[in-house]
This record gives sequence, structure tokens and C-alpha cells, in this order.
Amino acid sequence: MRIAMVQDRIVPAGELDPVYLDRGVFFGDGVYEVLRSYDGKLFALEEHMERFARSLSEIELSGIDLGEIRSRVLRAFDAAGLANAMIYFHITRGSAPRNRVWDAGLKPNFFLTVSELHDKPEDKAEGIAVSTFPDWRWKRCDIKSLNLLPNVLACTAAARKGCAEAIFVNDAGLITEGAGSAFFAIRGRSLQTAPLTANILPSITRQFTIKAGRNIGLEIVEESLTPEQAIGSDELLVASTTKDIMGVVKFDDKPIGNGKPGKYTKLLAKEFRSFTV
Ligand code: PDD
Repeated sequence: MRIAMVQDRIVPAGELDPVYLDRGVFFGDGVYEVLRSYDGKLFALEEHMERFARSLSEIELSGIDLGEIRSRVLRAFDAAGLANAMIYFHITRGSAPRNRVWDAGLKPNFFLTVSELHDKPEDKAEGIAVSTFPDWRWKRCDIKSLNLLPNVLACTAAARKGCAEAIFVNDAGLITEGAGSAFFAIRGRSLQTAPLTANILPSITRQFTIKAGRNIGLEIVEESLTPEQAIGSDELLVASTTKDIMGVVKFDDKPIGNGKPGKYTKLLAKEFRSFTV
């Protein structure tokens, strides 16, 4: 590479900030995590660190000192001084001139942000609307990779329809998960969600929602649903780090139950919060 151009400025290759050559930008070649705190206490840090380690290993990004990453997370959380914080961090394989094949000697790039999480009590009380979108993602959605273009397109299409989340439907006509959340239905006394396979993220909130479900006496069914089955369910909900447990009251414009978050959704949310103290 001889020169680069940043916006309208020609930059000799040697003077270019390596941030422009990040493989995360060229290829989405990196993995990330999002965790949060409740009232000053980080939630499920170890679970997030374990998933991060797995994501790194699945994309063969080696040589990362996870103890060091963990202490950076704690240091940044401390420095931000936020009771209800969202912590985002990613590691990309490093910066280098664009080449699909990576060079084993690259130095990975680390980036982290801490921001304030504003829980939306009105969404919790009223529930949210969701709309479906084709699941155009790759076949390793169990890796929390930076490749989120299908999720971006899905969420933007949903937002344009006034929906707070997009729900992915795969080629077999089955719901996989939300574009940024796990998806659940309450049918009778069972809590149903897609099984953990390579086509969904092993959501940490999903894991705790299942635990909450067991604690309140629901039967756990790990089977995928069709959109028709979802619409016919008693209650629907999505679960994620940033939304925790959120009732879904409209699915593709069809009202769910009586159009308000249902009784099991509320019970699950209450039980879930008991894990966060
Ligand atoms: N996303 N599925 C997808 C595709 C997600 O992006 C997320 C979370 C989840 C829920 O996972 P968890 O319970 O571990 O947060 C499921 C985060 C919040 C994000 O990308 O911002």
C-alpha cells in the first residue's frame, strides 16, 4: 500500500493511523461482549468472560490474557462510576493492510465503552412490539462476532415499523432468536425457546430466564416455534443483557394475549431480578 485517503485527505501509508486498517472494519474479524451492572453490581461477569473466551477460541484468536481483559473491565466500570452501566468490549485480530488471510504476528486491538443504561419502565409496563425478518446470518451465530450486518438491517426494518426488536425466521420457517435477544413463548405452563445450536447465540439472559422459569414451576421446552405458533401463544417475551426480560405484546401487528405483558412474564422478570442483587 502506498497511500490511503481518509475522507478527502490523502495520507501516505506510513502516516496512516492503524485504526483505519483494523480487521474488525475490513472483515468483522473480531468478537465482542456486552454486560451490565444493576445498582452498582456487575451481573454475570464470569459467564460473559467464559463466552468471550469461547468466541475467541472459535475464531482462532489466540494469545489473549483473559485475566487482563477481566481487570480492564473492572477498572473501566470503576472509573465510570455508573450504578446501571452497560459495558461493551471487543477484540479484533489487529490492524494490517487488507488481506483475508491473517498474519500470525498481528497484535490484537482492544476497545471498550461504558455507558449508562436507562431501563425503560414504560416498555416493561406496556410491553414491546416486534416484527419478523429473514435470518440471513452465517451458520455460526453461536460466536459473538462483530459481523452484525443482518442484525443491523433487521433492527432498522423493525424500527421503521415502530417495533423495538426484530425476530429472525430461518429458511425452514422457524424462529431462531431476536436480532439482539433470545426469544421465548409461554404456552400453558411451559416456557418455550429455540434449542442452543450453532444458529443462535448462547445468551446469558436466556440461561437465567430458564433458571427463573424452573424456579416458578414452568416446564422448559427447548423447541423452535413458527411465527404462527408464536402468535397463538399465551405470552411472548425477549431476553437480553440490555433489555433483561421484556414482554412482547405485538408480533407482526398481531396482539398477543390481552395486549399487555402476561402474568408469567412478570413473574419471570421478578424472579430474574432476584439473581441480580
Ligand atoms: N446482544 N441474541 C443475539 C443475536 C444478541 O445480539 C444478544 C445480545 C442476545 C442476548 O444475549 P445476552 O443475554 O447474553 O445479552 C441474543 C447484546 C446485548 C448486544 O449485541 O448488544
